[in-house]
Amino acid sequence: MLVVVHEDYDAMSKKGAEIIASRIRRKPNLVLGLATGSTPLGLYKELIKLHKNEGLDFSKVTTFNLDEYVGLPPEHDQSYHFFMWENLFKHINIERSHVHVPQGMYGDLKISSFETDPKIQQFCSWYEDEMLRYGGLDIQVLGIGGNGHIAFNEPGSSLGSRTRIKTLTEKTVKDNARFFKTVNDVPRYAITMGIGTIMEAKELLLLANGDGKADAVKAAVEGPITAMCPASALQLHRKAIILTDKKAAGKLSAEFVTYG
Ligand code: PGA
Repeated sequence: MLVVVHEDYDAMSKKGAEIIASRIRRKPNLVLGLATGSTPLGLYKELIKLHKNEGLDFSKVTTFNLDEYVGLPPEHDQSYHFFMWENLFKHINIERSHVHVPQGMYGDLKISSFETDPKIQQFCSWYEDEMLRYGGLDIQVLGIGGNGHIAFNEPGSSLGSRTRIKTLTEKTVKDNARFFKTVNDVPRYAITMGIGTIMEAKELLLLANGDGKADAVKAAVEGPITAMCPASALQLHRKAIILTDKKAAGKLSAEFVTYG
């Protein structure tokens, strides 16, 4: 695990984009795992710049996103489909058929049957198979939650978990309520790659910035490997890079840190 600390968010985002760009240049048909959230926005802006100014070519790249809410149509402005098209895909030359974001809508399925419905289970196994059909993820971009979560794998998620439907915690629902009209409009379920799925990517690139992430970064890097901090699983990965700004690295011991 390599932790590289940067002066600020912009420097961290630039470095993240350079890493992804170098992987695309080396392997034009890269299988790229992507994340939503505020953290990777700067990285996506930099990738768009590299595409526009330096011709970084996404035409052969295939993407798989970590997660999606269940029950939101792709055109909903809080869906992760929408987020990805607005913040990255529509600005680069990616083929629509190469983009994979977990399916959030399942016809008129009732919320009470989400957890057991075979359609959702089938989708989750298909998503796993599809990643394998492309040869597996070459590199997966990750954020980290203040509690150490990765994707929607909250503390307590099995370290071997696969793509599945998860109930959102009350805290996540409340945190997300600001993006919706009322708290009742907030989705209660999401489909997420599991920790086991994420760990099979050949390379992991986790980004973290701000004071709010300092405890989670310390636990992930220096703490015990435990389901109570899902990001701590990265300690077992052969090629995990963590990029931070100074604030998110603020609690790390010196021996764990390299400066970018
Ligand atoms: P953030 O979310 O990038 O919006 O901080 C990260 C996460 O929860 O994984």
